[in-house]
Amino acid sequence: MSAFPDDFTWGVATASYQIEGAVEEDGRGESIWDRFSHTSGKILTGENGDVACDHYHRWPADIELMKELGVDAYRFSIAWPRIVPAGDGDVNQAGLDFYDRLVDELLASGITPYPTLYHWDLPQALEDDGGWLNRETAEAFADYAEVVVGRLGDRVADWMTLNEPWCSSLLGYMAGFHAPGLTGVDNGLNAAHHLLLAHGLAVPRIQAAGCNAGIVLNMDHMQPASAHPLDHAAADLDDQKFGRWFLDPVSGRGYPQGAVDDYGWDMEVVHPGDLDVIATPIDQIGLNYYSIRIVRSDDVSEADRTEVVDPPTEYTEMGWMVAPHGLVPLLERLRDYGYERIYITESGAAYPDEPDEHGHVDDQDRISYLDRHFKAVSDAIDRGVPVKGYFVWSLMDNFEWGFGYSKRFGLVRVDYDTLGRIPKASYSWYRDHIAGVAGPPQDQTQRADPPAGR
Ligand code: FCB
Repeated sequence: MSAFPDDFTWGVATASYQIEGAVEEDGRGESIWDRFSHTSGKILTGENGDVACDHYHRWPADIELMKELGVDAYRFSIAWPRIVPAGDGDVNQAGLDFYDRLVDELLASGITPYPTLYHWDLPQALEDDGGWLNRETAEAFADYAEVVVGRLGDRVADWMTLNEPWCSSLLGYMAGFHAPGLTGVDNGLNAAHHLLLAHGLAVPRIQAAGCNAGIVLNMDHMQPASAHPLDHAAADLDDQKFGRWFLDPVSGRGYPQGAVDDYGWDMEVVHPGDLDVIATPIDQIGLNYYSIRIVRSDDVSEADRTEVVDPPTEYTEMGWMVAPHGLVPLLERLRDYGYERIYITESGAAYPDEPDEHGHVDDQDRISYLDRHFKAVSDAIDRGVPVKGYFVWSLMDNFEWGFGYSKRFGLVRVDYDTLGRIPKASYSWYRDHIAGVAGPPQDQTQRADPPAGR
């Protein structure tokens, strides 16, 4: 394994709704996640983000934790309803002030801010007018982006527009698992288009302020279950519907035709010129990487399969297969699409952390996970992929969307009774890794069974 380049950025990531709390403070408007999480039956645990990690009040201590960790950078998201409470129109200075203070303190601590403008907390007022099914939401997003960048762009160079539009459109408007909880194939695809349009409209506004703009996409590596051509075709189709549904239009390739046909999408929301807007050149791209999928065609009998891929043997607590090798082909693809500044904007794992009597968690499984994913990134760099940084998801345990607080991804444990922060073993290991003094992980635990429930 080669060393990482000296200027490689090591960071941690969070998102506004998952950590901030203070949902009614300083003029913040309601978001779709407030409404959704307060709707009975939507969150597995019945919990919500009203308090979350109380980061809105505890941010100085959280920056202190990052400083001790030694990270170069912090990826966080800005809550649109704090800045423009009704989604469009009046700007709330108190909301901007919060992020202004955060940015100043990060910079004073030697930590580079990497904000994301939209990590799923759409102002509810916009949802009341159709949300991402309404084309005007895209214009409102670009206006909001301009306001934020106008205030912070003198100190923040690197911006991401959207986090994982696949989740906010297909989980939120097609499958109903995320806010606003709508369903329907066309709803999902139309929402996705308006999200991409929002991205494309915002990019020039960000760049006009002299800043870099990019987008964060989640992709799973789609691995055919066997060498059978139909398994390969099925994996390719899933790939088109997942990662490439967003990557291709952003990269000027339009929507992947096989997936358009398979969905039977009428594309009525795609106006002339939209694809050019969506393909506005960006300065960087973020990949959120968690897992792979082994894809099998329904039309192949087991007997006809040769070179069958071994079934997964190791899972995180989300039920996601641990598969660091899947990072490499995805990163190579981003390189082949022409991206020259690639970030792993999220990667990390939930495990059933068991605290000792002091709340300390000896999370060797998370350390092993990170170590193997770092090595995969290093392999990709060796193959000429320009990966510039890696942001561990997440700095601390937080509100894991539909799973409430039941899944813990943090390097730092949050005691939800006291809101105290207790660094886990992985925090110390990551600190040593960044400082270049980490030893090998102690434990390569293989989890034989996926947890129930997913
Ligand atoms: C990603 C989200 C992030 C977090 C992780 C586990 O899809 O971007 O907010 O929930 O998954």
